Amino acid sequence: MSAYVIAVANQKGGVGKTTTALSLGGSFARMGRKILVMDLDPHACASIHMAFFPEKTQRTALDIFKSYPNFPDQQNSPIYPTHSEPRFDFTPSSIQLSELDADLKDVPGKGLILKKWLAQTRRGYEVIIIDCPPQMGVILVNALVAADEVIIPTQTDFLALHGFKLIFDTMRLLNKALKSPIKYRVLPTMFDRRAGACRRILNILRKKMGPRLFETVINTDTKFRESSARGRVIHDYAPKSRGAQEYTRLAREIDRGIKKL
Ligand SMILES: Nc1ncnc2c1ncn2[C@@H]1O[C@H](COP(=O)(O)OP(=O)(O)OP(=O)(O)O)[C@@H](O)[C@H]1O
Ligand SMILES: [Mg+2]
Repeated sequence: MSAYVIAVANQKGGVGKTTTALSLGGSFARMGRKILVMDLDPHACASIHMAFFPEKTQRTALDIFKSYPNFPDQQNSPIYPTHSEPRFDFTPSSIQLSELDADLKDVPGKGLILKKWLAQTRRGYEVIIIDCPPQMGVILVNALVAADEVIIPTQTDFLALHGFKLIFDTMRLLNKALKSPIKYRVLPTMFDRRAGACRRILNILRKKMGPRLFETVINTDTKFRESSARGRVIHDYAPKSRGAQEYTRLAREIDRGIKKL
């Protein structure tokens, strides 16, 4: 077993990255897959959502970066099972991840730390999903470089389309230093089929992205906000909701791609 590593990234905030990382974790876990979801955003929204409160959590993603060139041993590994069903493993974030750019300033190979940690950890999982921060910095670079595929959630509105450019600039820059270009696909989120503007943006995305746009579209569903308030993923809180079903469809679409590899 060696996990397929997915980074969920977009430098635009509030586009559904955290929702996508957690809901995909829930979808794959429901499908019986062995899953690790990692929160690498210092704001720790995914961690708080899953009831890993930063002030109370001992082992966090920070340990991976702080112990480098060594890594935490198995007993001290920053991996916990989630409290809710469907159960998957989870690496909580730390607020101190925001200081990592300064802390690692002079560390050679600092962009490859996560990739190296994953080289061992991925043996225990089928899919690893990384929730990335919206800011450009050493964490985002680590995640993009470590991923087999980057999922870029984007709201289907004009401004989101505009904000989108930043993540492409970042990937283009990294591609110059990488052996093979970063693989990515774009996920339309918070779609409202009644809104003409949403439909127009989706058409533009289909034309521009072609096969790099997921077939699955995630519609707006109030159950996402409700489930985060309850500290559960949507597959636990509202398994029959449209949102849960759409993320299951997305997981199947990704799964078909993994099987072809
Ligand atoms: N499909 C959806 N329908 C309705 N609400 C949604 C949907 N997806 C996400 N949301 C809500 O929108 C808000 C922003 O989503 P989320 O936190 O996933 O975005 P993000 O990209 O991770 O944000 P940030 O950049 O701040 O980390 C949350 O309150 C979430 O519950
Ligand atoms: Mg987020």
